[in-house]
Amino acid sequence: MDKILVTGGLGFIGSHTVVELLNNDFEVVIIDDLSNSYIDVLDGIISITGKKPIFENIDLKDKLKVQAFFKTHNDLKGVIHFAASKAVGESVEKPLLYYENNINTLIYVLQELEELESSNFIFSSSCTVYGQADELPITENASIKLAESPYGNTKQIGEEIIQDACSVSEKLSAISLRYFNPIGAHETSKIGELPIGVPQNLVPYITQTAIGIREQLSVFGDDYPTADGTCIRDYIHVVDLAKAHVIALNRLLQNKNTIKMEVFNLGTGTGSSVLEVVQSFERVSGIKLNYKVVDRRAGDIISAFADTTKANNELGWKTQLNLDDAMRSAWKWEQHIREYNKD
Ligand code: UD1
Repeated sequence: MDKILVTGGLGFIGSHTVVELLNNDFEVVIIDDLSNSYIDVLDGIISITGKKPIFENIDLKDKLKVQAFFKTHNDLKGVIHFAASKAVGESVEKPLLYYENNINTLIYVLQELEELESSNFIFSSSCTVYGQADELPITENASIKLAESPYGNTKQIGEEIIQDACSVSEKLSAISLRYFNPIGAHETSKIGELPIGVPQNLVPYITQTAIGIREQLSVFGDDYPTADGTCIRDYIHVVDLAKAHVIALNRLLQNKNTIKMEVFNLGTGTGSSVLEVVQSFERVSGIKLNYKVVDRRAGDIISAFADTTKANNELGWKTQLNLDDAMRSAWKWEQHIREYNKD
């Protein structure tokens, strides 16, 4: 059994990926500092898989602890690095915190990877690196635009750091996965997205409105140059996304990568407007959503969806779930956590 470290393994995408790794017979070690996650997620993972990953509560900014961890776990075969701060607005207000959280930690982990026998690294990147792309759908060759926020910049800089590290290292191989908009939850409703405070992202805002925590969804602008005037994104089910990580990891473990650092877009290839997402929610839940159109949100791009040809052909990965599946699972999850919190 290959032993894999998943940093941020109790977070939204991390926890779903841990489940897929355990289901594929990997031994998993999770590092998470619980800064934006909950220890209960570990129980959810165990309950779904019947397996218990090792868990270490370590803040990756603590370099000495990171070094000590890798000394203990010197038999790791790969690292999937999710741990990072991800609130765009907060990153604008606290840029140095974001650079420290997302860049220093990345460097510390990469430094320790050099000490391992084989070092395979999967990086959690984002379509935010493309900004408003000149052409749609967006291929991996689209130019990287000036980052709109320190958060976005940490993803761009992160990729550059990994690229530079790969080019001088004999051992290090990496895959950067650029996610479009991850949504949904595990079908068991034992793990899902747990936004702290008022959600900034569309789907948790929709489900919280439907359940009565928020009064009304604000649709940010309907005067964009799109078919219904609202922005278009590529919403990908988190379970499809998690599966791509296992495939990417196996690609590195089996030395099937063609260059030292590869990049793949992970999306469905289909763009959906904000109103289409609302309609999908209404369709699967049978609930009429209370929403109103308000002004545009500053910084929003008009349209972004992936060209998935490279991931389809080279990784042999394709999404299996659609927007309705994702909205159904998100709604089921929302109902589950409200029930749970009542107890
Ligand atoms: C945001 C982040 C992006 C991150 C991604 C993770 C910004 C600028 N970008 O992308 O860096 O990788 O989340 O999922 O924050 N919307 C509403 N009402 C709402 C919330 C959203 O109409 O209450 C609209 C937005 O205008 C947008 C769409 O829904 O058109 C999706 O928004 P969101 O879920 O925040 O994702 P992104 O902005 O694409």
